[in-house]
Parts: sequence; C-alpha cells; structure tokens
Amino acid sequence: MKITLLYGGKSAEHDVSILSAFSVLQAIYYDYYQVQLVFISKTGQWLKGPLLTEQPSVIEQLHLTVEGEAANATAIAPGDIKEEDTIVFPLLHGPNGEDGTIQGFLEVLDMPYIGAGVVTSACGMDKIMTKYILQAAGIPQVPYMPVLEHQWKENPKQVFEQCEGSLLYPMFVKPANMGSSVGISKAENRLELQAALAEAYKYDSRVVIEQGIEAREIEVAVLGNEDVRTTAAGEIVKDVAFYDYNSKYIDNNIEMQIPAQVSDEVQQKAQEYAKKAYIMLGGSGLSRCDFFLTSKNELFLNELNTMPGFTQFSMYPSLWEKTGLKYGDLIEELIQLGLN
Ligand code: DAL
Ligand code: MG
Repeated sequence: MKITLLYGGKSAEHDVSILSAFSVLQAIYYDYYQVQLVFISKTGQWLKGPLLTEQPSVIEQLHLTVEGEAANATAIAPGDIKEEDTIVFPLLHGPNGEDGTIQGFLEVLDMPYIGAGVVTSACGMDKIMTKYILQAAGIPQVPYMPVLEHQWKENPKQVFEQCEGSLLYPMFVKPANMGSSVGISKAENRLELQAALAEAYKYDSRVVIEQGIEAREIEVAVLGNEDVRTTAAGEIVKDVAFYDYNSKYIDNNIEMQIPAQVSDEVQQKAQEYAKKAYIMLGGSGLSRCDFFLTSKNELFLNELNTMPGFTQFSMYPSLWEKTGLKYGDLIEELIQLGLN
C-alpha cells in the first residue's frame, strides 16, 4: 500500500511540518508501505517527489524542501495526488493544513487520510469555535472574549471597555486560526492591548483575547476513532515569558517532563477532559490536548491540536512512547485508524 505524505505547506508552521515529516520518514515500516512524497512550498506550489521504497537518506529528504527547485520533484496540480490503494498523511500544521481545508479536499478526491475530519479540524483550529464547544461541554477554560476585526475597527473604545470589564491584565491576544503561538502577544495595559490586536489581525480577522494566568502547561495525547485512548499528561517545562514559536522550534529551550509531576487527581481530570473534548469535537485519529494548571490545582483546557508536532522529540509521540507505543507503531495505528 502507498502512503502519500503531504508536508511543508503555506502556513507559518511550514518548517515544523518539515521536521515532523523527516521523523515520520525515518520510522515508516517500508516492508509494508511505499511513500509518495508531496511537498507543498511556502507559496503553495505542490511538488511531487520520488516514491520511496526504503528509508531515505537525509540529503535526499532535504532536496525536496528547496523551494521551487527541488532536485527530484515535479510540479503537480493538487488533484494529481489521486491514486487507488493509497492513504494520505496530511502532516501539515496550521491554516490550510490542519483547519479542514485539506481534509475537505481529500474528501472530494475520495481518498482515505490520517487524522481528524473536516468539522473537527476546522473547529479545533479556530480558537473561538473551540471555546464555544468546550463551554457547551462544561469543560473549564480561562475567561475569554472574541473580537472580530470589524468590531475593533468600528469601535475600539467599546472593545477596550468590554475587555477590561470582563478580563484582567495581563491578557493574551491570539489570532483564532494559527498554531505554534504565531501572532500571539501578551498585553499588560491598554496600549499593549492595542498593539497586540494590531499584530493578531495581521494573521486573522478573528481574534480571541484571553485572561493571562500564572500556570504550568500540561498536555495529554489522545488516539482513536470510536474507541478513544488517552495518555497521562506530560508537562512543558519552560523558562521563557511564554511558550512561543521561537522557544518551541528555534531556540529549542524547552523540556518535557513525562509524566507531569502533578497529583493523581489532576492527572485523572486532565485525561477525562481531554477525552470529553475530543469526543465533543468529533475527533478521529489523533489530537494533543493542552491545559493550563494553576498553583491552586485549577485545570483549564486551552486547545486541541488535531495535527500536533510530530517529530520524534515532540510531546505527542513522546507521550505514547512512555505509554509503551513506539513511534513506528504509532504511525501504523494512525494508518489503520485512517483506513477505518
Ligand atoms: N501547532 C504545533 C505543530 C503543535 O501544536 O504541536
Ligand atoms: Mg498549544
């Protein structure tokens, strides 16, 4: 059987996707699968690479990522990926990859794929939709306020007043549809809030403002379709003001603690909320569920990532590894879940 690995992508998380893809390519069981590489450049060009029948060398993999001049790749139309007896692995993060658009495209092509479907991907990517669903599910989350760009443009004073009326500084201002902390800033006062909103609207006209809290960040991995399994929570141990894009992927100055050093009660609650949120969102395949944990042991669900960072060192596979599911076996499970 063939796996078509889609990676790269137009989103700001292009580079994360490439790193995830490199790890996946090392671990796929080539005795059972051939891998068709399809690289999506930052400008949105689709490039079809070689068909891999064995683990590729790093150099070979790198060639495919050279924008527009991939050594052994040819430009294709997206629809050209259609093939029989093939499952697609859309290993793409962020908008245009993790937000239901690619998933919808694959539905139209009538090809099986790994991970969440259209609605789950779209709602998981959109922080405002996620919050509405979590609210309906009665899952605790930090106080928040959605602010659409036109509301801000039409009446900034009203936005300030509503924010300050319902949220305390510091606040975090987040584009609704981004990942890996892109476009997020912290605001300590009105002036900073104004700048933070301007920054967030560069990425999305839908923005959500959250009340900042002093908290640890713990994460639970979820796997399954109807039969949903969770891991114990792991913790992101960090030493920066907040866990931003640079600290996650560029400076690499984060550490993971698996399992997180928290009470049994917190562990149990985190898994319970993660599973409930996953089911409420209609999850399938996989998700990583991220929480804030305060010093008073209050647990707030922050978000679900339907295509979490997937390098060998990323939290999602590491959580499963500690649970006894090896990286290669995890990919195999995801394939089987995608074919179901
Ligand atoms: N959005 C990144 C890839 C993550 O959540 O891991
Ligand atoms: Mg997160």
